[in-house]
Amino acid sequence: MSATLSKLDVVPSGAALGADIVNLDIGSAGDEDIAAVRAAWLEHLVLRIRGQKFGDAEHLAFARRFGPLDIAPNTRFSGEAWKPEYPEMSRISNIKIDGKATGSLGNSELVWHTDMSYLEEPPTGSLLHAYEVPEAGGDTKFLNMYDALEALPAELRTVIEGRQIKHDQTHNSSGALRKGLEGVEINDVTKIPGAVHPIIRTHPETGRKALYLGRRARSYLVGLPVGESEEVLDALWDHATGNPAFQWAQQWQPDDLIMWDNRCVMHCRDGFDPNGRRLMHRTVILGDRPY
Ligand code: SIN
Repeated sequence: MSATLSKLDVVPSGAALGADIVNLDIGSAGDEDIAAVRAAWLEHLVLRIRGQKFGDAEHLAFARRFGPLDIAPNTRFSGEAWKPEYPEMSRISNIKIDGKATGSLGNSELVWHTDMSYLEEPPTGSLLHAYEVPEAGGDTKFLNMYDALEALPAELRTVIEGRQIKHDQTHNSSGALRKGLEGVEINDVTKIPGAVHPIIRTHPETGRKALYLGRRARSYLVGLPVGESEEVLDALWDHATGNPAFQWAQQWQPDDLIMWDNRCVMHCRDGFDPNGRRLMHRTVILGDRPY
């Protein structure tokens, strides 16, 4: 499909979500190109731009064309920016120098999640730019949450209709406790810090409804006894994450830029050999309160 007024092409992955954008130079994209990218993003939920060499300044400039950016979560929790001149940039990496981690999230598997759903206004989208990738592993998988909702068994949909989830802000998707939250109560899911959002949200741009689950660990279906909340959440997560028909996997190459829509997509990452090197830079676009 060719977008009107723009020379870029959109090549769908053929899976439930995902498309490549080709014939677009991110440094010189005009307004009509950005409008075409946005339209493709809303249609395919995850976009990939492959094989362009650029640095943080270009990444930030491109990301800002889709909305104002949030500061990096590490900066939010620790008060320290990884790169003080770019407080919005996260470094996602397992690379260590003198035994000290140079980025976040290491080499372990990352569980299925939506970025920063514990915020009152979670990010609209995220952009991840690959500099170094390991020989094997470290794929990022994406999940179409419109499809997951549409295929939800009717009885389960009746149970969750109108309900809300409390989203845990204490741990990241590698299972690590966030800096600055040591000592916070984590044993009672009804009291854990984090925002409360509708479990079925309406995408503000497409008007479509999607499941909005956040992270499984320490989440809570507000108003239910904890045991019942756990049962319903387990059933929902099994349904959403257990069906490859809702998914597409990104196998990284250096210079890939991926952007995903957090309002209707979850993602996870395969682990990889700790001796392999993986280096990515990430930005997130500010969002608004889910409804
Ligand atoms: C993330 O969850 O933002 C990072 C994903 C990845 O490292 O592939």
